[in-house]
Amino acid sequence: MKLLVINGPNLNMLGIREPDIYGRSTYADLMAMIEAHAKKLGAQIECFQSNHEGAIVDKLQEAYFNGVDGIVINPAAYTHTSVAIADALKAIRIPTVEVHISKVDEREAFRRVSYVRDIAVSTISGKGFAGYLEAMDLLVKKGYES
Ligand code: DQA
Repeated sequence: MKLLVINGPNLNMLGIREPDIYGRSTYADLMAMIEAHAKKLGAQIECFQSNHEGAIVDKLQEAYFNGVDGIVINPAAYTHTSVAIADALKAIRIPTVEVHISKVDEREAFRRVSYVRDIAVSTISGKGFAGYLEAMDLLVKKGYES
């Protein structure tokens, strides 16, 4: 099982950015947690972070040609704006779980809009870094309704 984890803009700044919302653990800490969990699940993992919308679209298209079986994506601010990322997910049709560290539905109104939610097999928000691990479990055990 090949999994791809994609993190969008400013998530490389975890630990520095708004620690009251996103916590004090860093992006490197998140990567270490994800890699250890993948090992436990016996899954192959690739992690990708970009601050650029087009780079994320390119990575999603590449996933199609590379036979990726499942995607965990935190599109960050692009969640609320990006038709291009939503269209890429629709094009590749790889089971995808949308993850948000914070409780997006309890923050500003603009964060309640997600262009990805309807395409994702599941959305996990407000569970911190643990949400990524839960998303990986769902994809590996196919614990979602398709
Ligand atoms: C986020 C929530 C988004 O609204 C925000 O723009 C982010 C992070 C989260 O993980 O909680 O950058 O996706």
